[in-house]
Amino acid sequence: MEADVERVLIAEDVIEKRLDAMAKEVRQDFPGEVIVVIVLLKGALVFAADLLRRLPRMLEIECLNVASYHGGTESAGKVDFLDRKLPEVKGRRVLVLDDILDTGRTLRAVADKLTEAGAAEVKTGVLLAKDRERAVDVEADYVGFEIGDEFVIGYGLDYQGRYRNLPYVGTLKREAM
Ligand code: IMP
Ligand code: MG
Repeated sequence: MEADVERVLIAEDVIEKRLDAMAKEVRQDFPGEVIVVIVLLKGALVFAADLLRRLPRMLEIECLNVASYHGGTESAGKVDFLDRKLPEVKGRRVLVLDDILDTGRTLRAVADKLTEAGAAEVKTGVLLAKDRERAVDVEADYVGFEIGDEFVIGYGLDYQGRYRNLPYVGTLKREAM
């Protein structure tokens, strides 16, 4: 697996330090409240596990299965909700976590759905935000790292379902794609 990595973009220790700071931001924004954290699967799995363990407080974790990439390296332009039911969010303050903000369609669609479902507030956090124009009007409230507009893998992010378990964020060799 590591042989397919072209370059390490964000090393594991750098991610860990940044997560400490992000957790602090989240703690300050939701003092004492029991919030609902919605983890977008599967990409945000690793990020959420590491961030949430830095929040030593009462919260509820829900997962939402969404698909937008369909295996390639380009956003498909359509967001599919793969679950039959949305988590119960009526009147609740919600924090949505995703791996990366790219076109923005995923976060926009999820935030809209949760607002429709009666959430009192929807905040969003991503490990990575690509420096590019968004296809829709959305930005995340918490951003781990701004990166260039290139395809990355690792720390939850995949190429065709693989590389999610790399402990860092990197780029993929051309011959591996
Ligand atoms: P958006 O809806 O275009 O913002 O894309 C968000 C989703 O696309 C993320 O949840 C990722 O699953 C996927 N994605 C976007 N960029 C990358 C990338 O560079 N590597 C792997 N997955 C990506
Ligand atoms: Mg994804």
